[in-house]
Amino acid sequence: MILDTPTRFARLTALLAEWQALWRPLPFMHRGLPWPAPFHSLERRLLALEDAECERLQAAPFIDSPLSDWLPVMLLAELVALDEMPGDKQGLPASWAAHIGGRKWQQIEAFVPRVTLRPEQHLVEWCAGKGHLARTLARRHEMNVTALEWQAGLCDAGTRLAERQGAAVRLVHQDVMAAGAGEWLSSTTHVAALHACGDLHRRLIELSAEHGSALTLAPCCYHRTVAERYRPLSRRGRQLAETHGLVLEREDLAMAVQETVTAPRHVRQHREAANAWRLGFDALQRDVRDIDTYLPVPSLAYGQLPETFAGFCHWAACQKGLVLPTSVDWRVYEQAGRRRQAQVARLELVRQLFRRPLEIWLVLDRALRLEEAGFTVELGTFCPRELTPRNLLLRASRA
Ligand SMILES: C[S@@+](CC[C@H](N)C(=O)[O-])C[C@H]1O[C@@H](n2cnc3c(N)ncnc32)[C@H](O)[C@@H]1O
Repeated sequence: MILDTPTRFARLTALLAEWQALWRPLPFMHRGLPWPAPFHSLERRLLALEDAECERLQAAPFIDSPLSDWLPVMLLAELVALDEMPGDKQGLPASWAAHIGGRKWQQIEAFVPRVTLRPEQHLVEWCAGKGHLARTLARRHEMNVTALEWQAGLCDAGTRLAERQGAAVRLVHQDVMAAGAGEWLSSTTHVAALHACGDLHRRLIELSAEHGSALTLAPCCYHRTVAERYRPLSRRGRQLAETHGLVLEREDLAMAVQETVTAPRHVRQHREAANAWRLGFDALQRDVRDIDTYLPVPSLAYGQLPETFAGFCHWAACQKGLVLPTSVDWRVYEQAGRRRQAQVARLELVRQLFRRPLEIWLVLDRALRLEEAGFTVELGTFCPRELTPRNLLLRASRA
């Protein structure tokens, strides 16, 4: 079934709004059922899942899902099905991958053929890092590319790389949120942005609408935004969200990018172990405080996790100014944490089902903002999700 953007967007708005009481609650914060009472049977079904089935559904939430007895799985699957964006078939020389991480290079290889330039257009890369994409585009199209980047160190490193490889790239030290950033855009600019975060790509869309620049954008990290509450970019988005009562807070937007599909197995196992300790500490702190509510504990960078569960609890208690009893049966709480971790993973399958629909809703809102500004917009994927789960691409230009 081919769905036009307004129809897809309207249906997704209605479904996200209708089911928000199910996808919004974070199961790790709730000791009891996080959903309204009629969903006890769904909870029971999820908690009975074998580990392997749970893992399968995390990776493929729309295929053979037992959740379809309660939730609109098939409808959501239809609404998130997007075609691959067409692009030219010319490959890139392997030698151009020098100094670029393997996965990033594969993303660039998939992105570049989809940047379709008109003869009068010149290229700008938005939030370029070291300008890997800009160098590749400059060589591919044999033209000068301007790459905007906020960190001076990355600009210097990128300039050295471009000089060494003879790529016609000028890295410009520019804060794209600053007032003058629009000066880099005009009606003959084509802006390429690979994984530009929340406000950075919102800014690009607003400036493109103002100056009439074409863009090829793979958005990322929708929750990296100053606003605590999401304000749809498009008029249609604001109308529909109001009609259906869909209000999104910043932490709701984070759900759109919570996916571990590309994390190596050992990283996932480490994360699961850390989460089990957090839930073990949660059980302990509820007993110690004698208050049955969740207590948020700051996150820890990879590699900074204490070596033992007891060490972790002492660290977490210290963060929260909590005094732990001198004798604690650590084994009991550690096991409780592991049990809850297994339950939370199963209950999270509900959020996992709405994750891609929310992400696509956010990208459709961006597409509609541009359509409302007179752009022709295409939306599709540019690579398999195993390469990056942020694989959506918007291509837009004003005739
Ligand atoms: C997620 S990275 C993407 C980099 C590159 N496009 C890629 O795909 O590897 C985002 C980049 O945006 C830059 N950035 C962050 N805030 C910025 C700002 N206000 N103005 C310009 N660049 C910014 C960061 O320094 C970082 O290099």
